Amino acid sequence: MSLAALRADFEGFEGTPADLIPVLQRIQVLHGFISKDSVHLISRWLKISENEIYGVATFFAQFRFKRPGDHVIKVCLGTACHVRGGEQILDVFRRRLGIQPGEATPDGMYQLERVACLGCCALAPVLSLDDKVHGQTSVLQVRDLLGGREPSEDS
Ligand code: FES
Repeated sequence: MSLAALRADFEGFEGTPADLIPVLQRIQVLHGFISKDSVHLISRWLKISENEIYGVATFFAQFRFKRPGDHVIKVCLGTACHVRGGEQILDVFRRRLGIQPGEATPDGMYQLERVACLGCCALAPVLSLDDKVHGQTSVLQVRDLLGGREPSEDS
């Protein structure tokens, strides 16, 4: 991305430091994460140091600085799901994928997230894979959901 392309994406913004948060939000919506290149360009455009941008952005949990995996797995650890085995399901994903919540597999295939509630507590334990919600899940279903992917060597 060039500075000109960045400006084109952000037509309507004044290009002042006050635009920083909405610009970061927009970049994340457009690209799924905020790359080093984006931070560099924002720094030049808004005339804010890269350190300051990272300082502001890391304050907000919503911003992601690494490319997310192609398929996003969200394991619910809300109260209903927690008491019905959500933590064990998350552990199986951790071991099989070799990553922690908030991380993507090295091949970029999967992103693992823990969430507080997916809104269907009666079906606990609940997880979602991309946009599909799976209720009353079990550790045995994890392998099926991952298409038989073998456990990580690190597990
Ligand atoms: S607590 Fe898991 S879906 Fe609500």
